[in-house]
Amino acid sequence: MKSFATLALIGSSAVPAFASILPRQSNGKLEPVEVRGNAFFAGDERFYVRGLAYQPGGAADAKDPLLNLEQLAEDVANFKELGVNTIRIYTVDNSGNHDEGMKMLADAGIYLTLDANTPKYSINRETMDTTHRSYNDVYLQNVFATIDTFAKYDNMLAFFSGNEVINMKNNTGAAPYIKAVTRDMKKYMAAQNYRKIPVGYSAADVAENIYQQALFFDCGNDEDARGDFFAFNDYSWCDPSDFKTSGWDKKVELYKDYPVPIFMSEFGCNTNERKWGEIEALYSTDMTSVYSGGLVYEYTNEANLYGLVNKTVDEETGEITTTLLDDFNALKEAYAATPNPSGDGGYKKNGTPSKCPPADDDWEVESADLPKMPAGAEKFMKSGAGQAVGLAGDGSHFAGEPSESMVKVSEASSSGGADEEGEDADQEGAGFAVQVPFKLLSLIGAIAAFAFML
Ligand SMILES: *[C@@H]1O[C@H](CO)[C@@H](O)[C@H](O)[C@H]1NC(C)=O
Ligand SMILES: *[C@@H]1O[C@H](CO)[C@@H](O)[C@H](O)[C@H]1NC(C)=O
Repeated sequence: MKSFATLALIGSSAVPAFASILPRQSNGKLEPVEVRGNAFFAGDERFYVRGLAYQPGGAADAKDPLLNLEQLAEDVANFKELGVNTIRIYTVDNSGNHDEGMKMLADAGIYLTLDANTPKYSINRETMDTTHRSYNDVYLQNVFATIDTFAKYDNMLAFFSGNEVINMKNNTGAAPYIKAVTRDMKKYMAAQNYRKIPVGYSAADVAENIYQQALFFDCGNDEDARGDFFAFNDYSWCDPSDFKTSGWDKKVELYKDYPVPIFMSEFGCNTNERKWGEIEALYSTDMTSVYSGGLVYEYTNEANLYGLVNKTVDEETGEITTTLLDDFNALKEAYAATPNPSGDGGYKKNGTPSKCPPADDDWEVESADLPKMPAGAEKFMKSGAGQAVGLAGDGSHFAGEPSESMVKVSEASSSGGADEEGEDADQEGAGFAVQVPFKLLSLIGAIAAFAFML
């Protein structure tokens, strides 16, 4: 997401007018979405994500918007008016009961894409040490508990196993960890006999290595580890623009052989007045052979001003007023003018997994190997994740026990200078700003030392 900041407007002061409504199950009116070839399908119909990001208050002081039923009811009415079929939520409270909120969405024809991580329960990409350390059983328990909470809803469209974890050239070393989380989530769903809810990564548009990311998350023989889709955040269409000026034509070409669905997990550049010409392009056959739609960033206006609505709180009564902005109306018009293509949109029924990208100056991952699931998480496969800790938990970054295995690196490059570099990294707890593969190796050395000391 784009530098979320907190407005702290949407507080607990809202009157719980729906508190007396009994929780109900999602009534299953919506057909579950599944992956076929490089497309999503709901039954026999190709499914395009026509959606938006929804996290009132931003992510920094995240609250679960599905548990604020009064606000949700109002917002869902606006989603319907706008004409979206999907929302993305970045942070939920996995200990809450989501029956009523998910049913409100289902009744409005809306699916959920959900980040399985929260700020406190996530991979900590600060250094390779923290990346490795944070891939631990306490973290996975929380991810699995989120799956437990949401797997039962038919309108649960997809889980993101990570969001913009790789955001610079020097943290591509996180990729094997993200991919390991994708694998663990898919294995967990299978072990629990849940529906096969698609799992994939939401990438930041790091120009230097976004393509390597796409390949890496789709490569290798382990089907569980390969993403069910690949999503990325793309702010390259800034009005006035078009299919060519934005460079979207080149991306369609670049990903034409990608075997699983691709969609934009965020879009909506706000540099100039937004005309939403993206919508016509995204849902045209120029793009639908490769893309399955996308998510507008974002519903509420936060400090970075990408919103479609303003929410203001009356200081005395705590009452929240929602005002539709010009962007809302312009987007509504764009959706209304843009049906999905007829037929199947030119999707590809079968493709072959990608080849793992070689390491280079912009991509530090030397091998396709992934860290083993932390041993402490094995028990969840058999007996379930157990109690969800919700947003009140202590966090997982330095909790539990990490994976016992390191990311393997090729022998050819594993010589020279590693120990010295490793010590540096260990002492400073942060730090390498260069992109040559041997620097990564040295940090993996540091991880080994770190893990050994535990
Ligand atoms: C990448 O470089 C930045 C400084 O530019 C540093 O703060 C960060 O810790 C580095 N990331 C890793 C994984 O070492
Ligand atoms: C919406 O909120 C932004 C940021 O506070 C403000 O600049 C803008 O004027 C507001 N627009 C309306 C129509 O209230």
